[in-house]
Amino acid sequence: MNREKKRKAYCIAVTSLKGGVGKTTISVNLASALSTIGHKVLLVDGSIYNPGIALALGIEDNAEGLRKIMKEGNLKESVISDKRTGLDLLLVDKPMLTVKIAKPNIVRLLDKVKDSYEFVIIDVPHNIPMDMLFRFIDEIMITATPDMPAVAHLPKLYSILRRKRIRSGLIMNAVERRGYDLDYNTIRESTGIDPLGELPRDENVYRCAMDGTPVVLKYRNSPFSVGIYRIAKAVERRQKI
Ligand SMILES: Nc1ncnc2c1ncn2[C@@H]1O[C@H](COP(=O)(O)OP(=O)(O)OP(=O)(O)O)[C@@H](O)[C@H]1O
Ligand SMILES: [Mg+2]
Repeated sequence: MNREKKRKAYCIAVTSLKGGVGKTTISVNLASALSTIGHKVLLVDGSIYNPGIALALGIEDNAEGLRKIMKEGNLKESVISDKRTGLDLLLVDKPMLTVKIAKPNIVRLLDKVKDSYEFVIIDVPHNIPMDMLFRFIDEIMITATPDMPAVAHLPKLYSILRRKRIRSGLIMNAVERRGYDLDYNTIRESTGIDPLGELPRDENVYRCAMDGTPVVLKYRNSPFSVGIYRIAKAVERRQKI
C-alpha cells in the first residue's frame, strides 16, 4: 500500500457489502467530477456480472474492454476515451457469467496503467472476495444506504480493513433523513469511522440513469452533485497523503 514506491495513480475500489446501494452511480459521478476538475482518470467497470458503466454514460461502444484484456492481455487497445466526460474507460460489453475472476489476473494487468493516470476508479461488485483488490488499490470506498441491512456488518468489515491496514472510506448514499433512517452519529459510532461524505436521495439521479448522463454534468448544482464534488475534493486530499 505504499503508493510512492509502487505507483502514480491513486486507485480507489468503490464497493459495498450489499447490492443496489449506489456503487455504479457513485463511481461514474466521482470519476466524472475528478475529470471535470482536471484530473486524468481511468474508470473501470469491475461489475462483470452486471456491467453498468456504459449504460450510465450512454455509451453504445461494443468494445470488449475487460474481456479483451482477459483474453489477450492488451490493455491499451481495450481502453476507450469518452469525450463528454474526458474519462478513459475500461468497460464490459456483456455479462461475463462464467468467468472465474480470481484466475485472469486483472489486478496485474491494471498495475500496468498506474503511470498513465492520476486516479483509477473501479466499480467493484459487492459479491467478490475483497482481498483480491488489496494489492492493487490504495483505498476501498464502501458505499451504504442508511438502513440496517446495508450497515449491519460494517463494523466487522472496518475492523478487518483496519487490521489489514487498508485505507477505507465510507459514503452514505440516498440519505433522506426519514425518521427510521440510521443517523450519522449512530453510523459513526458503530463503524468507528467518519463517513467521507453523505449523498442525498435525489431524483436527478434517476433522470440521469434513464438518459445515460452523469448527474455532475447535467445537474451540476443538484444536491447529489454538490455532495459528489465534496467527496472529489476529499479524495484529492487523500491522494496527496
Ligand atoms: N442518491 C441517489 N438518489 C436517487 N437514486 C439513487 C441514488 N443513488 C443510486 N440511486 C438509484 O438506485 C439504483 C441503484 O444504484 P446503482 O446501480 O448505482 O447501485 P449499485 O450498488 O451499483 O447496484 P449493483 O449492486 O446492482 O451493481 C439505481 O436506479 C440508481 O439510479
Ligand atoms: Mg452497479
